[in-house]
Amino acid sequence: MNAIQRALDNFRASYNSEPTVVARAPGRVNIIGEHTDYNDGFVLPMALPFDTVIAARPASSDQLSVASDGFGSATFTLADDPAQTTQWARYVHAVGTMLSAEGHVADPPAWQGVITTDIPPGASLSSSAALEVATALVYTSLSGVSLSPGQLARVGQRVENEIMGLPSGILDQLASAGSQAGHATLIDCRSLDLRTIAFPQGATIVVLDTGTRRELVESEYANRQATCVEAAQMLGLDALRDATTDDIDRLASLDGAEQRHVDRARHVVNEDVRTTDAVEAMESGDLERLGALMVQSHESLRDLYEVSGPALDAIVDAALESTNCIGARMTGGGFAGGAIALVADDGDDSVGVFCEDLMGRYEPPPEQPAVAPTKLYPCQPSAGAGYIST
Ligand code: GLA
Repeated sequence: MNAIQRALDNFRASYNSEPTVVARAPGRVNIIGEHTDYNDGFVLPMALPFDTVIAARPASSDQLSVASDGFGSATFTLADDPAQTTQWARYVHAVGTMLSAEGHVADPPAWQGVITTDIPPGASLSSSAALEVATALVYTSLSGVSLSPGQLARVGQRVENEIMGLPSGILDQLASAGSQAGHATLIDCRSLDLRTIAFPQGATIVVLDTGTRRELVESEYANRQATCVEAAQMLGLDALRDATTDDIDRLASLDGAEQRHVDRARHVVNEDVRTTDAVEAMESGDLERLGALMVQSHESLRDLYEVSGPALDAIVDAALESTNCIGARMTGGGFAGGAIALVADDGDDSVGVFCEDLMGRYEPPPEQPAVAPTKLYPCQPSAGAGYIST
């Protein structure tokens, strides 16, 4: 039973009535354009066929209560500080706070509901962004307000930045809110312009979940973001989006610049070029070129940006040796979790052959123990967030 059906069943069992609103928001993978979003650069994600779903109805008091399949339940009042609300429910609380802070919903209504998800948590597939976007859709529906994907995404990003303390960009939320089935989306993270790019025939993305986990908040993420801001400031630029390769060459000689500034900035500048090149490769159906760009992206994230990890490197290497693999790379924030492979899809069993070959080859590195089994998920690009009519 998928997350939509489970949400409906759980809601009916809990409230003995039909929900007023059912919202869904998918997880994502980023095909290329990694650690470029908070540098005002380009990203190229697609939505996954895995959703977080919320079925809800208005509450009769100011108490908002939610039950999450497998994660327990929570009750809180929106007038309180979201920092007081614990764990996953803080996202639900904080989205209400930020919808109001952004001026979209003056007084977000309290509601009662159930949450289910098919997105494997911690696998770099943006389960928290999906929760934020689905939650924003519930509040806005119950308030009679309609927001654009960019507005929904910005609310989720502010939750991460201001309540969760993670200086992340807008990639995850905008991929979840703005994707279209059968398409990747080129996002300009400065203007928030979206361009849908038909996913090429003859290939499938396979998500490679290593089963290793690392919380972004505890990771080096904030440190990478701060280094990029410093590098842009040394160059006198608003963001590394505006830097050229010549700028990177002169960065080393500037006051205060260290090798890490040069390496991180070089990754960002090259990754932006690779991302627009990948769009061209997709549009011309050049799968080999797309795969090669993904491999270059992985190498740059591993060697210059230093956000890969032993398990991600090992599964990418094993994928590249496996039958029918065109390209592979880590995806998302890095360090642990998931990678992706671009795999030749003959409409018959070529993707199955790849998966079997990879499972036989991949040796989980002992220095980075997994907390969940290795899992592979062949995925076609799926629809962005929306409402389900019951
Ligand atoms: C995480 C963040 C995104 C983005 C990626 C790296 O997923 O949430 O904003 O920075 O890492 O590309």
